[in-house]
Amino acid sequence: MRILKVVLVILFCATASVPFISTRIKASADKKEAALPPQDPSQYVGSSACVECHTNQSTHYTLTAHNKTNNEKYRVDERGCEACHGGAKQHLEFYGTAQKLIKEGKDAEAQALYDDAAKAKAAKMISFSGLSSTQASAICLKCHEGSQGRNEERFNFRRSEHARHGVSCLDCHSSHSPKRTEFLLRNTEPNMCYQCHADQRANFSKPFHHKVPEGGMKCSDCHNQHGGFLAKSLRNSVTGDTPCLKCHADKQGPFVYEHAPIKQDGCQSCHTPHGSSYPKMLTRPQVKFLCLECHSNAPGAKVGDEGTIPTQTHDLTSGRYQNCTACHFDIHGSNRHRQFR
Ligand code: HEC
Ligand code: HEC
Ligand code: HEC
Ligand code: HEC
Ligand code: HEC
Ligand code: HEC
Ligand code: HEC
Ligand code: HEC
Ligand code: HEC
Ligand code: HEC
Repeated sequence: MRILKVVLVILFCATASVPFISTRIKASADKKEAALPPQDPSQYVGSSACVECHTNQSTHYTLTAHNKTNNEKYRVDERGCEACHGGAKQHLEFYGTAQKLIKEGKDAEAQALYDDAAKAKAAKMISFSGLSSTQASAICLKCHEGSQGRNEERFNFRRSEHARHGVSCLDCHSSHSPKRTEFLLRNTEPNMCYQCHADQRANFSKPFHHKVPEGGMKCSDCHNQHGGFLAKSLRNSVTGDTPCLKCHADKQGPFVYEHAPIKQDGCQSCHTPHGSSYPKMLTRPQVKFLCLECHSNAPGAKVGDEGTIPTQTHDLTSGRYQNCTACHFDIHGSNRHRQFR
């Protein structure tokens, strides 16, 4: 009986620890996957040799911000083409020799070299098409997790919604064939985002919207596409915790008389951030419906009962009382009147 108990206890513990152990195994596998092939410093030869065979990439490269790394200030493994593609010594030897043989008419020897699987493999550069999204991003983060570009912008990339769903730097950036040279973007910003977020294109096509499609502002004004700490990858504004206040500072307060939902639930309790079919990007077709959603004693209302319900003077059947903000005009908060009048 005792032995049976012991066995049962051990079995129980083993079963209970399965999820723990399996996440550990997965984590170490992820780490292994993220690890890049080791690189030997003696394998680095510099970028000047590449232009001969890769004219397109080399010419374009000199026009991009990455050309800044092509000098002695950078370590050999962070310099020029090889910073991303790895050491090229064997690559040059292999293709250089093959080219020479062909020029000398020794096609058979060249073919034999090409067919030498071991040498061909050793001559292979890092090609991004063969990497997982984690590995590809890791090469970029070698330099960009720290201070290249805007500080701290990408500190959280690895835990971002994008990285966690397998989106890599290269889904948005291209080193050699970007649509825009500035920021090496694959496409102009909203269009690039719409490729995966088609529902947001629909929101921004609604009659009342932030001027993102018109180019007046960008998705990245409100979101950090590289990841951050806030829900929905929203950006912190400098002063507050909502990105809206960066541009609508007049709505921030502090006011002597605050309207509670703004501080408690944020701007989204009354506005849609992207676009709406209703004026002022409100969540309801008419202001009164919005207000009565909270200021009524209907079931589910957020204020209700002993809270602030419009007084008897408000005859809601009369046109005069339907436009709430005609009288309660400082709806975001007031320094004059506790009822925002
Ligand atoms: C003598 C010619 C030659 C030189 C010089 C040369 N390459 Fe290549 N490279 C090639 C050829 C040929 C291929 C194979 C193309 C293919 O398979 O379509 C290649 C392929 C590549 C690839 C794709 C991955 C691979 O290995 O197949 C990368 C990346 C690359 N080269 C980078 C470089 C860089 C960086 C330099 C300079 C340090 C360089 N190459 C210099 C001829 C050359
Ligand atoms: C910042 C990182 C970076 C640097 C620096 C860089 N490349 Fe690339 N390279 C890439 C990426 C990423 C790709 C995949 C295509 C793309 O996104 O444009 C690529 C693709 C290539 C290819 C096509 C073969 C393949 O792997 O698909 C060649 C050839 C190449 N690069 C050569 C070069 C040469 C030559 C230089 C230097 C003049 C260079 N690269 C510098 C990142 C880089
Ligand atoms: C060897 C270090 C290094 C690596 C690796 C590297 N970068 Fe960069 N990157 C830089 C530097 C340096 C700049 C220029 C920053 C500046 O202008 O202040 C830069 C600039 C950029 C810019 C801004 C371009 C602009 O016009 O301002 C983008 C986008 C970028 N890198 C993306 C990438 C991507 C994607 C990868 C991976 C394929 C990558 N980088 C890999 C060093 C690197
Ligand atoms: C979802 C798309 C997306 C992904 C994924 C992404 N970026 Fe960006 N990145 C952008 C956009 C859009 C901009 C331009 C922002 C702007 O216009 O202010 C940008 C700007 C940059 C800049 C230049 C401005 C700055 O912030 O310093 C760098 C450098 C950069 N990205 C590097 C990277 C690296 C490295 C990765 C991967 C670790 C990456 N990005 C992943 C969309 C993306
Ligand atoms: C004016 C600021 C602002 C702009 C500009 C903006 N967003 Fe948002 N976005 C927000 C806010 C705020 C939320 C959170 C909504 C919520 O939690 O109810 C959000 C939510 C999201 C979500 C999560 C899904 C959802 O609806 O909750 C996605 C995806 C998104 N935005 C993508 C985009 C894209 C793509 C663009 C550009 C085409 C963009 N956003 C432009 C403020 C903005
Ligand atoms: C290659 C596809 C792809 C591109 C391009 C892309 N995204 Fe995403 N994005 C995703 C995926 C996948 C997720 C995670 C699943 C989801 O929430 O839809 C995501 C999530 C998000 C979220 C967080 C939503 C949440 O619920 O937390 C925001 C915000 C966002 N993306 C904004 C952008 C912006 C801004 C751009 C353009 C600069 C962009 N995305 C470009 C695929 C993409
Ligand atoms: C990058 C600056 C910027 C940010 C961030 C921003 N807005 Fe705006 N917003 C504007 C500009 C500019 C206008 C007026 C021009 C227009 O019609 O788009 C505007 C207009 C509005 C309007 C009035 C629309 C109308 O029809 O009159 C509302 C409501 C609004 N924003 C709410 C928000 C909310 C909520 C947020 C946060 C999710 C936010 N804004 C973030 C710049 C911004
Ligand atoms: C309690 C609901 C409510 C909340 C919460 C709210 N608003 Fe409003 N907002 C309104 C109403 C109602 C209007 C329309 C006023 C009118 O038509 O007279 C409006 C109008 C606006 C306008 C356009 C007119 C103007 O006054 O400039 C902007 C911009 C705006 N709000 C931004 C914000 C921002 C930013 C936040 C978050 C800090 C926010 N709102 C939170 C109800 C709200
Ligand atoms: C998301 C819910 C919500 C919405 C929508 C909302 N309010 Fe409020 N409102 C509140 C809360 C909560 C208070 C604080 C009530 C309290 O302290 O008893 C408040 C307070 C008020 C007060 C001050 C009452 C007093 O006794 O000090 C007025 C006036 C008011 N709201 C008017 C409006 C108007 C007009 C609208 C429509 C534009 C509106 N509210 C939309 C939640 C809301
Ligand atoms: C013609 C001007 C006017 C309009 C329109 C108006 N109100 Fe008022 N409201 C007032 C006045 C004046 C008060 C002060 C209390 C009183 O005398 O009834 C008030 C008070 C309130 C209060 C606070 C009640 C309390 O007990 O402190 C709320 C909540 C309120 N109104 C909501 C609304 C809503 C919701 C609408 C739209 C359906 C609205 N008001 C439309 C003038 C107006």
